[in-house]
Amino acid sequence: MQQNNPFANQETECLFKELSKVTNIKTGTRFTNEEINKIIPQIQKINKLKKEKDALILAHYYCSPKILFGVADFCGDSYALAKKAREAKQQNIIFCGVTFMAETAKILNPTKKVILPPITAGCSLANGITADEVLALRKKYPNAKVLCYINSSAEVKAVSDTCVTSSNVFKIAERTKQDQIIFVPDLYMAKNIEAYLKNKGIKKEIIAAGATCCVHDKFTLTQLKEIKTKYPEAKIISHPECLPEICKNSDFVGSTAGMLKFVKENQSKIFAVFSEWGLINMLEAQNPKKTFLPCGRICASMKRNNLDNIENVLENLESLAGITVDKQLAERAEQTINNMFKEAEK
Ligand code: 13P
Ligand code: SF4
Repeated sequence: MQQNNPFANQETECLFKELSKVTNIKTGTRFTNEEINKIIPQIQKINKLKKEKDALILAHYYCSPKILFGVADFCGDSYALAKKAREAKQQNIIFCGVTFMAETAKILNPTKKVILPPITAGCSLANGITADEVLALRKKYPNAKVLCYINSSAEVKAVSDTCVTSSNVFKIAERTKQDQIIFVPDLYMAKNIEAYLKNKGIKKEIIAAGATCCVHDKFTLTQLKEIKTKYPEAKIISHPECLPEICKNSDFVGSTAGMLKFVKENQSKIFAVFSEWGLINMLEAQNPKKTFLPCGRICASMKRNNLDNIENVLENLESLAGITVDKQLAERAEQTINNMFKEAEK
């Protein structure tokens, strides 16, 4: 804690403690006292506004560390965030993430006002398939179960059977009784499910359609091999949105929360992270004695959330409509998401 911090109190103490441990993407060095001091008035203003306006701030791990450590009430992976949104008591949910995440929050807690600070923030996966395309696949494979990744639109969720996130996809696919699974919209995740099932000796046909994550699909096996040669002691951790050959050569594959847990419990001192930059900041804050080799990818949509637009939406909360989802559509999509909660918690 900085002795000469003019704004010193509990809230800023935590901010200094966490931010001083993490790398500022813009400068490539640790956040300095000067940089932290500069944002403190705005952080204090947001935290005051959030209480006055009965708002809960949720943030995905890929958001800026200023949000994660300064104003968020809860940080998590898609699964944990969806659960938090479902049980939120506050009248307003400020969701720092991407559009499909805020939409999911609205579906799960429809009486609340859900605001995404940048108003829209796309995801190449959620934009990668339409409900009509899923319906066409259902027609072609009538006996298949349709699993949709949570990174999908409300329309796609509404025509699917069960939703999955990266924290439960392998478990849910494995327990699926049907021999055929239609998996949308992540093509690489579908390949990773295939490999996982094959490894376990489980025979199922995976019918995949959709797209790839424009952040995770850029990691290459060459990059991974170079890291292994240069840092043979490094543990490789990757997100299941990565290419199958990346996942196959990783020490751990899982959700952002899963990767954080793996690193915390692992004795190694050095990790190569095949995921988005924001996760590195959380890893650095939680494990100050460990080294993280960032693979340098940034999700531009996640980075559209910032302190300025959070402050702005809180100031103008009353006049903002927030995320809307047609009632019937929301009810059908909610069923698909609830099927995931049931399966995941079994
Ligand atoms: P997680 O659910 O693992 O946090 O992943 C969300 C995401 O969009 C990864 O790109
Ligand atoms: Fe979508 Fe990829 Fe960004 Fe995650 S990292 S929100 S999958 S574009």
